Amino acid sequence: MPLRLGDETPDFTAQTTQGQIRFREWKGDSWAILFSHPKDFTPVCTTELGAVAALKPEFDRRNTKVIGLSVDPVESHRRWEKDIEDVTGHAVNFPVIADPDRKVADLYDMIHPNASDTFTVRSAIIIGPDNRLKLTLTYPASTGRNFLELLRVLDSLQLTANYAVATPADWVDGDDVIVAASLSDDDARKKFPKGFTARKPYLRVTPQPNR
Ligand code: BEZ
Repeated sequence: MPLRLGDETPDFTAQTTQGQIRFREWKGDSWAILFSHPKDFTPVCTTELGAVAALKPEFDRRNTKVIGLSVDPVESHRRWEKDIEDVTGHAVNFPVIADPDRKVADLYDMIHPNASDTFTVRSAIIIGPDNRLKLTLTYPASTGRNFLELLRVLDSLQLTANYAVATPADWVDGDDVIVAASLSDDDARKKFPKGFTARKPYLRVTPQPNR
């Protein structure tokens, strides 16, 4: 049964480039991103891990731990990390899970046999402080991910966790947000002192409340 949004995410123990971890213990009450790549020493994956390393300060700022995964062994990950730094200029500064027996990949449904029997797909999930699944993204091996999108989703998730709002299409941090449909106009006026504009009765926008 694949994991679905809102499901509790499973715990596991795994070998990583930074030693053995128990996932829940490592994650604590932070947010977390677990992302798989198909294979070490491959071109798109090399650019992806460098891109994540470059964005690590942005994930830290959002109280979010990042961890990679592939079915290659830990010695392979460690050798490959030298290439990643060489090519991208960014040393890999987060743990990468070695999952040769596919234990974690199977738990998180990261092998899609009709794409490949042997490699993990490019899966990225966001897990909340409550250990529940908040986002899943699945990309094919030939398409490198846009990790800025994961930052954008984190901004949206963290905003909506604290305020009765949703974020519109292409929203980025600082843009106006949508007042939750569950709030009456009177309650919305109380909650959002900057006021709101009703474009339709069901589409009311307000300046981002934490700005
Ligand atoms: C890549 O990272 O470039 C790649 C990995 C596995 C299959 C195809 C491409």
